[in-house]
Amino acid sequence: MSSPRRVLLAGATGLVGAQVLDRLLAEPEGPWVLAPVRRPLAIESRRLTPFVADLADPAQDAALADRLRAATPVLDAFICALGTTIRRAGNREAFLAVDRELVLRLAAIAHGLGARQAILVSSVGASAQSGNFYLRVKGETERAISALGFERVDLLRPGLLLGDREESRPGESIAKVLTPLTNPLLRGPLQRYRGIAADDVAAAAVALLDQAGPGRFVHENAGLLALARA
Ligand SMILES: NC(=O)c1ccc[n+]([C@@H]2O[C@H](COP(=O)([O-])OP(=O)(O)OC[C@H]3O[C@@H](n4cnc5c(N)ncnc54)[C@H](OP(=O)(O)O)[C@@H]3O)[C@@H](O)[C@H]2O)c1
Repeated sequence: MSSPRRVLLAGATGLVGAQVLDRLLAEPEGPWVLAPVRRPLAIESRRLTPFVADLADPAQDAALADRLRAATPVLDAFICALGTTIRRAGNREAFLAVDRELVLRLAAIAHGLGARQAILVSSVGASAQSGNFYLRVKGETERAISALGFERVDLLRPGLLLGDREESRPGESIAKVLTPLTNPLLRGPLQRYRGIAADDVAAAAVALLDQAGPGRFVHENAGLLALARA
């Protein structure tokens, strides 16, 4: 797989997504980034085309696909750092509509425009069989995106994301304060549950754009850090 030239980035306004965008645009020979967003982006670049759209409405998908197709007849890769929380979404159904349905709708649009690689920021513990609703949704999304027909699928399963957010998330804030204490205690297979800098996850996602070879690949904390530092 040659280095992707046209990337569809979902979640470009988020903690990880904004850092993915910064990194892609900072590379002198980086790709052209097409970013569907529900609010304007704070940065501009000749290699960035934002598409402000009502992403919540599936009836708008065809129009979004047409706008993307008019900008570029073909895409190379899809990076997804989109998601919400049950608290922010309001209820489980609303969470599902974003973390599973919207992710899959955008993935399907990217695949329809020829993207051969999908890179999904999922979560440690993601499993379609999980008894935990959040992790089950993440696992179902991973499974469904893997079935869409991309040549290569990279599933990123970070632990707690560390970074500065505008939004207040009390549980996450407490966990972050405890991270310097808890990370060293999480050893061996438990390392996957450590906190990890959102920027390291972003760096790993960008590094994966240059990885060749078809298949389905899962990357937990250790693999993400290795990719980020390579
Ligand atoms: N928080 C953690 O510790 C943690 C740990 C492991 C995995 N993850 C997963 O990692 C991924 C990235 O997390 P993050 O913290 O970077 O996410 P984030 O900062 O919450 O950003 C999420 C992105 O999704 C967009 N989005 C959310 N709801 C939307 C909607 N209804 N319509 C359109 N766009 C919507 C946001 O747009 P706006 O900016 O417009 O809201 C934003 O661009 C998520 O899937 C998350 O579940 C998180």
